[in-house]
Amino acid sequence: MAEPVRGYPDLHEHLAALAAQGLLRVIDHPVDKDSELHPLVRWQFVGGLAESERKAFLFKRVVDGRGREYAMPVVVGALAANRAIYSVGMGAPLDKIQEKWDRAIAQPIKPREVADAVCQQVVHSGAELQGEGKGLDALPIPISTPGFDSAPTLTATNVITRDPETGVQNMGTYRAALKASDRLVVRMATRVGGAGGYQHYLKHQGRGDKTMPCAIVLGCPPYVAFLGPQKLPLGVDEMEVAGGLAGMPINVVRAKTVDLFVPAEAEIVIEGLIDTEWVEPEAPFGESHGHVALEEFNMPMRVTAITHRRDAVIPSYLSQVAPSESSVIKRVAYEPLFLDHLRRALGIRGVKRVSLHEPLTGLLRVTLVTMEKGTPRTEIWRALYGAAFFKGDCGKICIAVNEDIDPDNADAILWAMAYRANPVEDVQTVAHRGQGHGPKREREGEEDSTLLVDATMKGDLPPLALPKREYMERAQRLWEKLGLPGLRPQSPWHGYSLGDWLPQWDEAAQRAVQGRYAENGRASEAQRRKGVKPETKYRPV
Ligand SMILES: Cc1cc2nc3c(=O)[nH]c(=O)nc-3n(C[C@H](O)[C@H](O)[C@H](O)COP(=O)(O)O)c2cc1C
Repeated sequence: MAEPVRGYPDLHEHLAALAAQGLLRVIDHPVDKDSELHPLVRWQFVGGLAESERKAFLFKRVVDGRGREYAMPVVVGALAANRAIYSVGMGAPLDKIQEKWDRAIAQPIKPREVADAVCQQVVHSGAELQGEGKGLDALPIPISTPGFDSAPTLTATNVITRDPETGVQNMGTYRAALKASDRLVVRMATRVGGAGGYQHYLKHQGRGDKTMPCAIVLGCPPYVAFLGPQKLPLGVDEMEVAGGLAGMPINVVRAKTVDLFVPAEAEIVIEGLIDTEWVEPEAPFGESHGHVALEEFNMPMRVTAITHRRDAVIPSYLSQVAPSESSVIKRVAYEPLFLDHLRRALGIRGVKRVSLHEPLTGLLRVTLVTMEKGTPRTEIWRALYGAAFFKGDCGKICIAVNEDIDPDNADAILWAMAYRANPVEDVQTVAHRGQGHGPKREREGEEDSTLLVDATMKGDLPPLALPKREYMERAQRLWEKLGLPGLRPQSPWHGYSLGDWLPQWDEAAQRAVQGRYAENGRASEAQRRKGVKPETKYRPV
């Protein structure tokens, strides 16, 4: 068996890399995991901070609702509090991440089995899992949405199961609610037809197996962790694609009590058997679609062992209302897929960008397609249809805009719709859309529909009426010199041409700022007319 050599970072090295780049906040103050920890990190998503100001939070002194203090620290936002953090984990600048994914999927690398693994430095099983302060009850698992959630819930998971027919393992990020020191309820659902692990569950049921072996891994090396939420074709072993990302095999070790291989450098592994006969109510839990998921039956798991590193850190994802760590992870991975689909698969020239709207709508409902000005109308509509129907659960509302509209600024989008779209000509609704990921409705099977809006310019418009960029920048320097409060420029913050503008007007504006307005007055006086109705258009020649 191979020696445990490794050339890719584990979570500890990743945290050190984040610290070195100023992307990690270490909190030494005692923080209650049940009522304070997630709300504290939430403030950096709802407190008016720019995305670039968000950081990972490492909590060194975790306490709970019963006043207990835990030895293990908790980290939130370590993989994707913002794009810079995701980029550190992927070992690539943002614009190279898609390439890295493409290569890893095309050239997966099989994992390497090792005998000794840090994730098994400490092993708890049998009676050590029973009772208060033992097993799961010894782990500082936070409550994500205090006031709504009914249990501390594992969120930053890589849940491993094996296909009983092919022997291929699956690894997905699924939440699991704590129910007792040795019992969890896992939810494997979010995929059309059911998640990868759920397919294995059905196969075990079909064979008459009363249980399904399962390993819930916390704190994988980032290359492995990123595979949890990634939507790969069913039947693909995510550990091999993680090897493709790392450019080398991922070390795996045989779990202690179930027949599964787990990442050797993980922080914690919760091994157990999922009941395939009985289901148990799980939730309420704040979901990534931004509403609270209400109680539903899901899969109970009896814990057979908990193994961990001596210095284990527990990761937790901030999800629920977007923006969140969960929406950042998905946005960085999904947007390039859409752009590639419109440009390469559909061959639509003129598409510049596809943006999945993040705040509150959570990526899946509203899609912005940025089109080059002057793109033929038929191509704009092909782009709108293409974006709306690429994925069954994305693009309920698709809006085409031009490049001067910031797709992350909802005010700018409404501005484009208000001035550049004529609803009778530029809006369409299309029937028959599935409901997609969202709060469950009372009527099962109720269909949704699609709204498409062409809010691009249909011709030239006069300039945006703000001072030209050079004047705004000069004023910004003056603002700073005067020591006025710090600025956060909001696009658009300067005027620019939208096509309907003449060089003569540039010259006149130039004379005006030089104090030579009277020259303009003499020129306009020379153009005086009789018998013309006020507001009649005039163009200098
Ligand atoms: C933070 C986070 C939490 C998630 N929670 C769940 C969940 O509880 N259940 C689920 O089925 N999918 C969940 N997902 C989505 C799955 O991870 C995603 O569908 C993934 O493709 C599942 O892997 P699979 O394709 O192998 O099933 C979550 C994703 C993220 C980023």
